Amino acid sequence: MRTDYRSIQVEAADGIAVFRIHNPPVNQLSEHVVRELAEAFGEAFRDGSVRAVVITGSGKNFVAGADITQIKDIRTRQTLLELLRQNNRVLNAIETGPKPVIAAINGACLGGGLELAMACHYRVAAPGVDLGQPEVQLGLIPGAGGTQRLPRLIGLPNALEMITTGKPIRSEKALERRLVDEIAPPEQLLAVARRAAKGFLDGRLSLGLRATRARHERLPSAAEKRALLDFARLMTAAKAKGYLAPFKALDAFERGLHFDIEADLEMEAELFADCLFSDVARNLIGIFLNTRAAGRLPRIEGLRPAPVRSVGVLGGGVMGSGIVHLLLVHEGMQAILWDIDEKALERGMAGVRATFDYHLKNKKITPEALEALFRERLTCTTELSRLKEVDLVIEAVVEDMAVKQKLWKELEGICRPQAVFATNTSALPITEMASVLADPGRMIGLHFFNPAHRMQLLEVICAEKTTNETLATSVAFARAVRKIPIVVNDGPGFYVSRQLSAFMGASVFLMADGVDPAAIESAVVDFGMPMGPAALSDLTGIDINYRVNRTFEMRLGPRWKVHPLTEAIYQTGCYGRKTGSGYMDYSGPQPVPNPKVTAVLQDYLQRHGIPPRQMPASEITDVLLAAAVNEAAYMIEEGICDRPQDMDLAMIYGTGFPPFRGGILRCADRWGARPIHELLLELEKRYGSRFTPARLLADMAREGRTFYPAGA
Ligand code: NAI
Repeated sequence: MRTDYRSIQVEAADGIAVFRIHNPPVNQLSEHVVRELAEAFGEAFRDGSVRAVVITGSGKNFVAGADITQIKDIRTRQTLLELLRQNNRVLNAIETGPKPVIAAINGACLGGGLELAMACHYRVAAPGVDLGQPEVQLGLIPGAGGTQRLPRLIGLPNALEMITTGKPIRSEKALERRLVDEIAPPEQLLAVARRAAKGFLDGRLSLGLRATRARHERLPSAAEKRALLDFARLMTAAKAKGYLAPFKALDAFERGLHFDIEADLEMEAELFADCLFSDVARNLIGIFLNTRAAGRLPRIEGLRPAPVRSVGVLGGGVMGSGIVHLLLVHEGMQAILWDIDEKALERGMAGVRATFDYHLKNKKITPEALEALFRERLTCTTELSRLKEVDLVIEAVVEDMAVKQKLWKELEGICRPQAVFATNTSALPITEMASVLADPGRMIGLHFFNPAHRMQLLEVICAEKTTNETLATSVAFARAVRKIPIVVNDGPGFYVSRQLSAFMGASVFLMADGVDPAAIESAVVDFGMPMGPAALSDLTGIDINYRVNRTFEMRLGPRWKVHPLTEAIYQTGCYGRKTGSGYMDYSGPQPVPNPKVTAVLQDYLQRHGIPPRQMPASEITDVLLAAAVNEAAYMIEEGICDRPQDMDLAMIYGTGFPPFRGGILRCADRWGARPIHELLLELEKRYGSRFTPARLLADMAREGRTFYPAGA
């Protein structure tokens, strides 16, 4: 046997060849790996001295999927189908080959990796490894036999769940479901796989019967299949609105699972192609790749971030306690929680404990382990001097410039000069906050979202003087605590709050134009947002939104003038859930429209002689989206942000903007700058200067430009 493959290490002994796939970093099935597999198997099948093959991976991965960067660039259906057919030929050759092939699953076995393992005749897995078909998360279905082989091995109901949700299962569950045949400790994995190979050679196991394509015993009857799929369609319609792949997976089950697997595979390939060339897949693949690249900015390329091992957190309130939680669950970080007095500290500690309730309840941590964590990794103090040695300070005290500045000034005299100073302010100007420091370059905004330990987004805000070193360290810290860092510049509401306010806030113009608030809510939810503008206001607080709006008016000028209807609603004193009523009244078992707010609205419409206005849902969301795109253009002009991919990620991870739509700027590019600009001009005439198009958008409309570079 040849042994000089680029990505497959070959070792043969005792008539058994071991193929170890080695394609760092995650052992993807790139095109060249598939080609080499075809060659290596071809040779092993021809070589008389090889009687069986064991295939395994390296490091933490068996094979963690196909190479999505290669697939996403395929432009024609024909090229794609050819590639899928080629992959299928390789897997079919393994499955129907003359010699037994055993998969020794040493680590993550996902996507194409599981498809490869299922084409083998026997599977041995190490304990605790993940096996799954996560393709739907990228808007795809398995494209190398997954939809046809998985149901044959584990039955349709289980396969359906795994493929339509994309969630992996652990090897223990895989054994229960008979996706794997044995579990063996890592150090014995190859020995057990070899033993299985011998089982085939001495006739205990039958190659023909073990081939997945020959296994029909777990497939449902036609009637069972119909009933199951009808039910699954209903469930999926409710859960996966806007997505395509879960429905295509159901099609693949419905149209496949026959005796002729080759025809089924051809059909699966066609469905895969339908998915890949859809906008949804394009959006989801874009999000996946951009998430990996978030925070990798040219301005900090090559800079070495300072290590962050010890972090001081100022204030153990809502945000501070979540941030402490975050530090404790990530190895290697020491946390020091400071608060104003013992009482506040006690409240803070109770807050930190409460963030672990879920973990305790679900037995993700034992009470003893939690106490040990507190003892070993957390210090509580009311003395700022205890923060002398920290690498980073994150401030989450009351939203008051004077209070915050006083603390920073004091800390400047205490902390090491290299320590980074980060504020979690939601809206105060960070450049101004930093102005009290002798070295304002060390200050940055780290804007966590509530709850801080769960929300994935971390908005990183550079003030005017923030240095590249401060930024590099902050981004590396964000990555270390598994946040997605989106870097923007200082400005009112930074990026996310201003973008969300523009999007949701445009709804008040529609209400003031006679559009029913309930119609707006349902249009926005149908669009895919987690909730409508009124529900969101009630949750965050109408008073808080009002103050944010006032700040925008003050700092951004008359275009952001607070709408008289917003003012009137604020004056009712109904601030949302926290006061029992806002747009809705929450005193009964079900929220109902709050009569006080309804009266204010009716009064406003009557005084202005505005009749009720029917507006289709798509027009409602067009108005909101146009306002949002326009604000994004203003923010790009103002230098708040300039990377469309980061802006879109921020809205997806920070506000629940529907991933299948790709983000506000992806929507904008699909819609086109020209029609958006035209709509804004109409809206400007009707509703005033909030809709005045940004110059950038006017230029883009004229020149036919997009936010994303062409082809991105
Ligand atoms: P909170 O009211 O829950 O906690 C405030 C903390 O400040 C408490 O630990 C309190 O003991 C401390 N504190 C009170 N008076 C103080 C003083 N004079 N000097 C020093 N510390 C004092 O507030 P929350 O919600 O945790 O907010 C903290 C910061 O995070 C604020 O700047 C807020 O704007 C920002 N933020 C809040 C978000 C939220 O959803 N709650 C989201 C993102 C940022």
